[in-house]
Amino acid sequence: MLFPHPAVNYMLPMPDYSQHRKMAKYLSSITPEVRAESLGKFFHAFQRGYAYYYATPGYAPKAEALNAEDRNLRALARRGISASRLPEAVKAGVIAELAPLIEELSAGIEGKPVNERKFKDLNRQVEPERFPGVFEAFQRWLDDSGIQGMCSAYAGARLKIGSLFLQKNDAETSRLHYGEISEEGLPTVPASYMHIDSAIWPTVKILIYLNEIDIDTGPFRFSVGTHVLPSLLEFMVRKTNDGLKLPPAEFLALPEEFRQHALFGDFIDAADPLAVDLLAREWAVQSSDGDVICFDNNGVHRGGFVRQGHRLMLQMNFAVA
Ligand SMILES: [Fe+2]
Repeated sequence: MLFPHPAVNYMLPMPDYSQHRKMAKYLSSITPEVRAESLGKFFHAFQRGYAYYYATPGYAPKAEALNAEDRNLRALARRGISASRLPEAVKAGVIAELAPLIEELSAGIEGKPVNERKFKDLNRQVEPERFPGVFEAFQRWLDDSGIQGMCSAYAGARLKIGSLFLQKNDAETSRLHYGEISEEGLPTVPASYMHIDSAIWPTVKILIYLNEIDIDTGPFRFSVGTHVLPSLLEFMVRKTNDGLKLPPAEFLALPEEFRQHALFGDFIDAADPLAVDLLAREWAVQSSDGDVICFDNNGVHRGGFVRQGHRLMLQMNFAVA
């Protein structure tokens, strides 16, 4: 069986970036030379991305996992996401050890005017040298719970913890970036920030909530099943542009087929049928569903729209063991 499904192409929204009001001012700088230049840069990166993909197990293990005997692995493969529980003792130990970093992150955010806060200000890397106990505790839990085995089977290679990031989202910053957050926990432009990640492989990632998360405190949101919709070509086009970060005029100068991006949510109309579908599929994962989220970041996701309070969580990325 081929994967993603060969008959389904371009199922994610394809906004016409050239028609967006934020992009209009760049249209006049598009010359034939700019088109040639941007195409050259795109294909260079595209070729590198594909070469990397072919050097990995690719997406075939995910296709196999769709019919795996293991229930959890099968559910992850079919839905693109699973939620489970972190043992209380592990969580309490991790929070206690990370207390100084949580303090530094919070002080850093509060010390900066709201309108100057960037995405990187809301994150701190958890260094293994500084917090060895955190890595040991997580590694033991990943082994004991079978989650590491599940993620490894899904990726098609033995994985280990690659990196760990602490992230804090608050209501003030959310309001600045996304406008007033509704009672349903949605931003003013409902599809805002919907994206897939630029990582080509492995595409599996873990989030761990450290505080109680409900609809008001910025739950992670995932459009269930979207990780299998696009073709490999579509994934590679979108991921190439996400990694390449062409200046806007050069991105707009690309032929339409290659002018697609991993971040599309801010550019689609809420009435777009594909946006309606993505919103309908979206699962806002609350603590009552689980505090550990394992997901395929090829699926459409977003999160951190805080209406009141805050969200404190860890993001765990895998590397090959
Ligand atoms: Fe992401």
